[in-house]
Amino acid sequence: MVGQLDASEWRYFAKGNANVLLQNKSDSRKLLRLRQYKPSDYQSTIDIYRYINSIIAVILKDFVVPMELLELSPTFSNGISNLLKTENRNCDIETQEKYGILMDNCLSGVIQTFSTGKFAKLHISNDSVTLELKPKWLDPTITTLYCRNCANEKHYEKSSSRNFCSSRLLSKDKSVVLGTVRDIFRSLQAKIDTSLYEKILFQYFVSASEDQNILQLLSVFQNQNDNRKLIKTLESEKDVTDDLLLGMALRDVTIFFKFIELDDKSSNSKHVRGNEFILGQNRLLIKVVDIDNKSAKKWKYWKDTECELLDSKEFDELDLSWGPGCVL
Ligand SMILES: Nc1ncnc2c1ncn2[C@@H]1O[C@H](COP(=O)(O)OP(=O)(O)OP(=O)(O)O)[C@@H](O)[C@H]1O
Ligand SMILES: [Mg+2]
Ligand SMILES: [Zn+2]
Repeated sequence: MVGQLDASEWRYFAKGNANVLLQNKSDSRKLLRLRQYKPSDYQSTIDIYRYINSIIAVILKDFVVPMELLELSPTFSNGISNLLKTENRNCDIETQEKYGILMDNCLSGVIQTFSTGKFAKLHISNDSVTLELKPKWLDPTITTLYCRNCANEKHYEKSSSRNFCSSRLLSKDKSVVLGTVRDIFRSLQAKIDTSLYEKILFQYFVSASEDQNILQLLSVFQNQNDNRKLIKTLESEKDVTDDLLLGMALRDVTIFFKFIELDDKSSNSKHVRGNEFILGQNRLLIKVVDIDNKSAKKWKYWKDTECELLDSKEFDELDLSWGPGCVL
């Protein structure tokens, strides 16, 4: 992939609210991540790339998917913009943007995907199974009946019942962790037997030490200096601290848990090394993507959301038809 990028070499892969992902036609293991056209509070690729390398990579280390900055020519960007229009993808890239990010495709070879909500998906390929999870706001000490995610889901998503509460994966009580892992897989309604993946994931969450456990790591850095408390008191962009910006970036990440069966049938080891967990003949590989720095200009939106949630009583009003409380 050296030299000029050629738009005809790429096909549409996925999009979120702020980025478009393209897959390389001759090497499906490679994705190019481009910024969408957003006139307000635009974050450039180079700012995101620098933030990930200087701040996020120091915290999340091997969990971060390796990335490479690629220069975009106007011809390439216009070609991709036309492709998105022709295919009616309902989005456009920022054609003034100078760079894109090249990274490994964590879902290369996927042939089937199960999903019922936007916070978890299960991807099946010929030689592996991958759980995609957006844990959102991890609350290490839930002081209200429902955690921030669940209150948010009850109020804004208006879902009729809870699928799972990701904060409960932080519990010191192993039965709570096991129950939550089962909730996640049950919510996917996958037409395959997932008991082995439930067992591996549960073992990872309860045996990885704090700095080896991706959810514990995210939780610690989401909540530095109690930054969530600050949100409801914000009055301007200047009140937004670096801790809060980091917290908000880490509240939006996507984690891929990839389950791979090893050839060594005799192995009975159990250990964590970097971003992998070995349990007997199973290997769990963990990667984090979508770690964009947030703009302090979003302070008003954050404050309004928080205040509306607090006013709504969703945190403390018991609604058994939706689900029991989140308390760890
Ligand atoms: N390296 C990757 N390998 C495989 N799939 C990926 C990768 N990066 C992103 N994706 C998929 O593409 C989707 C959109 O990408 P991404 O999350 O980076 O965009 P976004 O605009 O930041 O999304 P959001 O609105 O959720 O913040 C992800 O939810 C994920 O399913
Ligand atoms: Mg994002
Ligand atoms: Zn919850």
